[in-house]
Amino acid sequence: MNGSSLLEFAGRAKRRRGWTIRLTERAQTKEILDECEPDGETLRCCYEEMDRLHQWLGNRAAVMRRLRALGVGARSRVLDIGCGQGAMLRVICDRLGCEGVGVDLRGACADARVRIVKADAVSDSLPRADVAISVVMAHHLDPQALVAMIRNVERSCDALVLLDLVRHPVPLTLFRAFVAPLLCRINASDGATSVRRAYTRRELREIVDAALDGCQRKAVDVRHDVAALWLRQVVTVRWS
Ligand SMILES: C[S@@+](CC[C@H](N)C(=O)[O-])C[C@H]1O[C@@H](n2cnc3c(N)ncnc32)[C@H](O)[C@@H]1O
Repeated sequence: MNGSSLLEFAGRAKRRRGWTIRLTERAQTKEILDECEPDGETLRCCYEEMDRLHQWLGNRAAVMRRLRALGVGARSRVLDIGCGQGAMLRVICDRLGCEGVGVDLRGACADARVRIVKADAVSDSLPRADVAISVVMAHHLDPQALVAMIRNVERSCDALVLLDLVRHPVPLTLFRAFVAPLLCRINASDGATSVRRAYTRRELREIVDAALDGCQRKAVDVRHDVAALWLRQVVTVRWS
């Protein structure tokens, strides 16, 4: 199915089911995991399922490709911003032989297998690393906070790989039809909310440009790719 047939499919599904897909504005609705504090077991299941989803959807491979291109190896240190319980960071460290440290508002769970620091990536000082990654975290921040987060990363890292969703009817329709039915209730609901809270390609690029304008170092390489079917967007920045 190509892009335009998917748009038609999305339109037909919307009319048939009475869905209202209003994506012109970012949704302000909070995700369930942001609003409530689930017990440890529920949280673990949600993050593990999210990690499997990253694998199926190719998000993990997309991050690995960019880390390899940036030369990450045995002597490197990777910082994962908004790392959850550190599942993707663990795989990155195993595969690339690098050291890893995660940062998350929630801090580490009892059996975390990577070092996780409890911190706000927007305002707290971050651990020093060669490369920072941030996976489906950017949409949790409003534009001003995201600008501050990128500038904060520049103060402690030489590169950033930021992967997030794209606010677009195609991924929202695909998620609701084919992915949500396979997920737990929290991830099914939060996944749809995340697409509705995500930035469009243009919005994210404007935010990144504004952030880079105020950084201490000059960005020597900036790339912004959007995957087929708007499944993800990835911004890669390298500072001098
Ligand atoms: C959707 S989860 C993604 C977790 C993980 N990156 C993954 O892909 O499985 C977003 C994570 O970002 C964290 N987060 C949100 N705002 C943050 C902030 N300002 N500083 C640090 N972490 C934050 C949340 O606690 C949550 O664990």
